[in-house]
Amino acid sequence: MKIAGKFPNIRLRRVRKKAWIRRLISENNLSVDDLILPIFIRDGKNKIDPIKSMPGVNRYTLDKLNIIMRKVQKYNIPMVALFPYIAKNKKDKFGTEALNKNNLICKSIKFIKKKYPKIGVMCDVALDPYTSHGHDGIIINNKIHNDKTNKILVKQALLQAEMGCDVISPSDMMDGRIGKIRKILDKNNFQDVSILSYAVKYASSFYGPFRDAVGSKINLKSDKKTYQMDFRNSNESFREVGLDIKEGADMVMVKPGLPYLDIIKNIKDNFKIPVFAYQVSGEYSLIKFGIKNNLINDDVILESLMAFKRAGASAIVTYFALEAAYQIKRFN
Ligand code: PBG
Repeated sequence: MKIAGKFPNIRLRRVRKKAWIRRLISENNLSVDDLILPIFIRDGKNKIDPIKSMPGVNRYTLDKLNIIMRKVQKYNIPMVALFPYIAKNKKDKFGTEALNKNNLICKSIKFIKKKYPKIGVMCDVALDPYTSHGHDGIIINNKIHNDKTNKILVKQALLQAEMGCDVISPSDMMDGRIGKIRKILDKNNFQDVSILSYAVKYASSFYGPFRDAVGSKINLKSDKKTYQMDFRNSNESFREVGLDIKEGADMVMVKPGLPYLDIIKNIKDNFKIPVFAYQVSGEYSLIKFGIKNNLINDDVILESLMAFKRAGASAIVTYFALEAAYQIKRFN
């Protein structure tokens, strides 16, 4: 691109001199319409337990979900993402609890869809909160078995749809699962249930605090590198997204967020499909601890979220959703 003109005719500071002109020429904007709030749910009654590694984020028992859902409603956040913290005695090698009609996620979907029908609900399809070994799939001969895992995942997805889940979000990174899930949903008259595929999910150390939050950290002895993507790669992400679109994904997710903005931009430019970004737990905690220790101020929240918009993301899953919504309201 050729830049016309030169100093002193051109002074770029003229378009930065006052807030009104900066507002007029801003290329990207962030609104509550861009935000998705993850919520952690636990067993029991009358409990809101803080997650140590994620200051400001709690696990809620079902009877306390109202507390956070009322805020979601007040700030007009379009969708929540539900994650369960499963009691140790309910975990096994096959993640059986994932298919229990009365499990935490099923009960939570029903509760939210009944009391807050206008708020979208998205749920992870993956076995890690339910398996004793903390992997997203089942292990056979020391390997995460792709096709046998898919057989369970389609059942998990169907169950979530039956409970009223609006957006099914496979985050397991097994091959071929999107097509199989689309097929079973359609066969059961759930043509209107969407699939948001975690198409590009990297094997990342930024997930640490999340694994703590859902209680899979202590169990997980190895890494997830045989199914989640290698962070040295970018070309592979095109293949992942291309396949998932063919198999029936409505939207795709890139995860983690900030360290992977190049991937978001590439996919947006090449596929023109809604790309969602996940600002994951480790990113949240780094920023949050920075703010708590007065190393940075909380303007950094909107700055970090705006970066996703600049890269081309349609929406952002972020633990800052409520705080960001509050800040957006305050500044408008
Ligand atoms: C589980 C899942 C993970 C996250 C979302 N779904 C962790 C993992 O794959 O180990 C991470 C979210 C976060 O770190 O905030 N499949």
